[in-house]
Amino acid sequence: MPSPRVLLPAGLIEARVHELAAAIDRDVPTPLHVIGVLTGAFVFVADLVRALRGPLTVDFIAASSYAGTSTSGQVRLLQDTTLPLDGRDVLLVEDIVDTGLTLQALQDHLRARAPRSLRTVALLDKPSRRRAGVRLDYVGFTIPDVFVVGYGLDYEGRYRNLPGVAELADE
Ligand code: PRP
Repeated sequence: MPSPRVLLPAGLIEARVHELAAAIDRDVPTPLHVIGVLTGAFVFVADLVRALRGPLTVDFIAASSYAGTSTSGQVRLLQDTTLPLDGRDVLLVEDIVDTGLTLQALQDHLRARAPRSLRTVALLDKPSRRRAGVRLDYVGFTIPDVFVVGYGLDYEGRYRNLPGVAELADE
């Protein structure tokens, strides 16, 4: 059974989330329209929106491409957003960008809905695994090519409730 080893403690993430929120508050016109990518980003969205000072609205979109620890390469849109995007300043919130295939599909999908602007924030970035050229406006932490869980991220549905980010390594 794999066991999680802490990579980013909760306190470090909390401090970084506040830095990201301050930068977003400085840059992005309000009201901001936050779109979280389910399921993994639900914890990051909850912390980020409470650190943002400007007025905002929140929606979610759900996509999946992973089975176990590897991507199928096929991004499935499981649930679309509920609010219109035209004329809104959108902040897409991802927990992790790995190959970039999920983000590429979601950015294309949202751009087609004519938001006034579209920015993306990812808590974690794994650039060594990139297969799609995607634009990331804000990144919390750049991490090496290790499988991570916690702070919303799962392995087969588990570990999303760990307060920090941990590497899942074989015993
Ligand atoms: C994870 C993560 C990103 C995506 C990143 O989602 O939340 O959306 O993978 O990987 P990529 O850059 O290689 O496309 P996942 O498909 O595991 O769904 P989940 O958030 O519901 O766990």
